[in-house]
Amino acid sequence: MSEAILQVSDLSVYYNKKKALNSVSLSFQPKEITALIGPSGSGKSTLLKAINRMGDLNPEVTTTGSVVYNGHNIYSPRTDTVELRKEIGMVFQQPNPFPMSIYENVVYGLRINGVKDKQVLDEAVEKALQRASIWDEVKDRLHDSAIGLSGGQQQRVCVARVLATSPKIILLDEPTSALDPISAGKIEETLYGLKDKYTMLLVTRSMQQASRISDKTGFFLDGDLIEFNDTKKMFLSPQHKETEDYITGKFG
Ligand SMILES: Nc1ncnc2c1ncn2[C@@H]1O[C@H](COP(=O)(O)OP(=O)(O)OP(=O)(O)O)[C@@H](O)[C@H]1O
Ligand SMILES: [Mg+2]
Repeated sequence: MSEAILQVSDLSVYYNKKKALNSVSLSFQPKEITALIGPSGSGKSTLLKAINRMGDLNPEVTTTGSVVYNGHNIYSPRTDTVELRKEIGMVFQQPNPFPMSIYENVVYGLRINGVKDKQVLDEAVEKALQRASIWDEVKDRLHDSAIGLSGGQQQRVCVARVLATSPKIILLDEPTSALDPISAGKIEETLYGLKDKYTMLLVTRSMQQASRISDKTGFFLDGDLIEFNDTKKMFLSPQHKETEDYITGKFG
């Protein structure tokens, strides 16, 4: 087994006094897709947000434990969170393109980082949109507003926006659950196609999606990581009754 790209140790997150994540430890291998599953309120989004320090934006959030990326704890005061979010990008449940052109959405992160050369930007746009499997649909309307796209197209533009900053890790919080089945299928295929280049953490409610595209799966319940295993093993022979009940649809 190769070395972990990301190691979460003894991570707890509180919203005021409420503990939403309870001493979770797990590690992620490079270029694997890890599915994070569990019922509503189990702490899946809280974990993703902790991994790129989104809690910093909320004074009610307290985080303890560590998240080591590239040999360095991202909770160290020396971490530059702008740099961090370039390396660890995030895609949300609701497609959230900025109210600007498709082109400007994709180059947003590059412009923030001071890239001005038009040729560099043009190439980055084409490459990111290609990788997000939406280039052919938008190449003739790059300067139209991203808001005019369908939800599924908007979500692929959001994936392209993240890819343009050349992340190593992509956090995906239910990226297909707000989409119709055809758009959801396209995003899922796109993610699967990105597997050889990126490490992905995918929160999903779809057991089918988890079993189709993930290598590993973690099952959360009430802030605890109950079980973490190879996806095939988890779905064929879950080790805990709660996991079995959840994946067979007895609750959730
Ligand atoms: N901003 C917040 N302020 C207070 N409590 C919060 C906040 N965000 C989440 N929580 C609480 O933390 C717990 C974990 O929430 P989280 O959003 O991580 O769950 P989840 O597994 O992503 O659920 P869902 O499947 O519904 O998205 C829940 O009890 C939730 O109510
Ligand atoms: Mg959530």
